Amino acid sequence: MIAMDLEVIRDMSDNGKTMKLSRLCGALGAEVRDVDLARLDEAASAAIRDAFHEHLVLVFPDQDLAAGAQVAFTELFGPVEPHPLRTRRTVDGHPAVLIIENRKGRPGARNDYWHSDISHAERPPAVSVLHALKVTDGRGDTMFCNMYRAFDALSDGLRETLRGRRALHSGMATYTRSLEHNDARTIDPGEVKPPRAHPVVRTHPVTGRPALFVNPHFTIGFEDMTEDESRPLLDTLHAVATRPENVYRHRWRAGDVVMWDNRCTMHYAVMDYTEDMVRLLHRTTAAGDAPR
Ligand code: OGA
Ligand code: MN
Repeated sequence: MIAMDLEVIRDMSDNGKTMKLSRLCGALGAEVRDVDLARLDEAASAAIRDAFHEHLVLVFPDQDLAAGAQVAFTELFGPVEPHPLRTRRTVDGHPAVLIIENRKGRPGARNDYWHSDISHAERPPAVSVLHALKVTDGRGDTMFCNMYRAFDALSDGLRETLRGRRALHSGMATYTRSLEHNDARTIDPGEVKPPRAHPVVRTHPVTGRPALFVNPHFTIGFEDMTEDESRPLLDTLHAVATRPENVYRHRWRAGDVVMWDNRCTMHYAVMDYTEDMVRLLHRTTAAGDAPR
């Protein structure tokens, strides 16, 4: 991890400590130290919100967040909602806190594809928060890429071509995939909703910045083109978005809280662990608006 610059974003009044923020790489992401997410005052919450909108991914090491406290923290970014796929296990008494687990006899659900969470929903989640409880050192990293930068990197002509265009997002890939997993219930493919159209370039509701909003997992094509016709251009966009220069790769430590903005990032869970390598995280999401 390279701390490219270190800026103090505020003094914490409750314990006299100073919350410190440092960039994680050139593309996106910042680490925030010396803060307790279970005890944030108004000013600290506002500073974290501002940092989040600037850096898109925030990493908070050494947190000890009970499920209820994780929900309360996530609420700072929008109403906390349960996962629409009711196939996932949740923490007892906390239906909005998903358990992401890999251990012997319970292999974890794979997320080794670039995606923005549930982009096929009418209102995809704005923000996702993962809290790592147990990890196997150096395995199961999560990668993130910056979709503002992906859009900015395109030529003027392609940006103009994409503006106002819509793409179709389908939940079919998730359903197909969940059928292969231990945490799946039997799903009737008829339950999968028809693909949903979202703008290819969305305007972030807080920052007002344009971001590319397509992903290789859920996006099946442009609204007014065939899937075959759409594929080459979608492949080009995904290749631009996932260039190494546009990616932060997070190596997990127990206690980490990592949050990302689904409106302007994609993420990818690296599948380099086996069933005997323990991985246990709690996940919450804050609801978002319909992309526009
Ligand atoms: C998710 C997800 C990544 C991971 O929770 O939405 O993609 O590394 N998880 O577990
Ligand atoms: Mn995800």
